[in-house]
Amino acid sequence: MPAVVVLGAQWGDEGKGKATDQLGAATDYVVKFNGGNNAGHTVVVGGERYALHLLPSGILSPGVVPVIGNGVVIDLQVLFREIDDLDARGVDTSRLLVSSSAHVIAGYNRTVDKVTERFLGSRRIGTTGRGIGPTYADKINRIGIRVQDLFDLDILRQKVEGALAQKNPMLVKVYNRRSVTVEETMEELLAYADRLRPYVADTPRVLNDALDAGKTLVFEAGQATMLDIDHGTYPFVTSSSATAGGACTGSGIGPTRIDRVVAVAKAYTTRVGEGPFPTELDDADGTWLREAGGEYGTTTGRPRRTGWYDSVVVRYATRVNGLTDIVLTKLDVLTGKAKIPVAVAYDVAGRRFDEMPDSQTDFHHARPVYEYLDGWTEDITGARTFDELPINAQRYVLRLEELSGTRISSIGVGAGREATIVRHELLP
Ligand code: GDP
Ligand code: IMO
Ligand code: MG
Repeated sequence: MPAVVVLGAQWGDEGKGKATDQLGAATDYVVKFNGGNNAGHTVVVGGERYALHLLPSGILSPGVVPVIGNGVVIDLQVLFREIDDLDARGVDTSRLLVSSSAHVIAGYNRTVDKVTERFLGSRRIGTTGRGIGPTYADKINRIGIRVQDLFDLDILRQKVEGALAQKNPMLVKVYNRRSVTVEETMEELLAYADRLRPYVADTPRVLNDALDAGKTLVFEAGQATMLDIDHGTYPFVTSSSATAGGACTGSGIGPTRIDRVVAVAKAYTTRVGEGPFPTELDDADGTWLREAGGEYGTTTGRPRRTGWYDSVVVRYATRVNGLTDIVLTKLDVLTGKAKIPVAVAYDVAGRRFDEMPDSQTDFHHARPVYEYLDGWTEDITGARTFDELPINAQRYVLRLEELSGTRISSIGVGAGREATIVRHELLP
């Protein structure tokens, strides 16, 4: 009954899509349990590049059942655009299941996302502007619209009226925007209801039955540990639970059913949007990492901020997620650098922190304490076993493993599905 969670160890874009896709052939269900179309997961299969936002990466593997869990927030227009794009490329999307309890992103929440960012000014989060935060806020505030509401017109109208009674005064009086009518919101939400209906399911039940039947389930997180609403660099985070616990609440399975928690970590670090980032580079090395790693957002196209590997962050991810394995990605990007700095601790105004500071203010002032590891110049993109890596690349991986507190089970040496070195199988 293996159930494996795949999540991000850093600030997102670690290569979760590729890692999930890689498990595809041996997987029966791939479940997205948090976030929405703020995510951008890239999978490269046979030279073809797929950018997935709302659909779990497992959709690219024939036979896998992709599931959008109750913890996800759904922009229906984006969902069907993505389905249509994949259909046009010959990918079978017909097995998709969508939780009847997932929340739906309404147009007013995309508006609220953008205007609140503008109002925050220099304190903005740098969100993706997709309405994610306001939709989760409505969920917690108990004025959200759920998938099942789309199939009960009386209830839908009541809920839209209730939501707009709170949204409109804010939109008009605080943000100086026009008010939104119940009719236009109903029309927007119902536009895809008929197309959505065949996909809708009681997904917690489906997933528990699948576990009972001995199927293999992969839970694919959006975002990452440091963007998690509870454990990330609040308030510079997303609005969902991107850590391991989120896989349970966001899908309706119990923690006792999870066998492995796999974090994907880049061999360096990137971040999109605002917020603290101790190993960030503003120099030529930062530009080099961005260009060598193709570090531009899959969702918004924004250049990603870049920096060296931060083992304090990954140790923290080990702790809050109870990690069993790490998938280290993009080792190939570091080829050619003579000495590679790796943060082992922080210095905060003369005080040394070996572990993540509890105080966000301390984290904002953290300066990395670096250890300098020897680099390599050989092309490693063709390596398929650990022994084929140059000795310094092997030492780099082993040192990161030691510092991060979790075994490194797989190493990425290129974007393609095949460009991977497996040290330990991820499925038990
Ligand atoms: P995700 O959001 O965690 O799924 O990651 P993204 O897809 O946003 O960003 C990761 C990028 O790195 C994608 O363009 C992948 O194709 C690419 N990638 C993943 N693993 C590797 C690797 O080992 N080497 C290289 N060069 N690229 C990789
Ligand atoms: P994947 O799944 C990287 C960041 C945004 C912003 C913050 C809040 O591809 O790793 P939001 O729109 O979620 O309210 O924005 O979170 N962010 C991501 N950064 N990868 C992602 O997803 C992200 N999803 C959100 O840039 O800083
Ligand atoms: Mg991404």
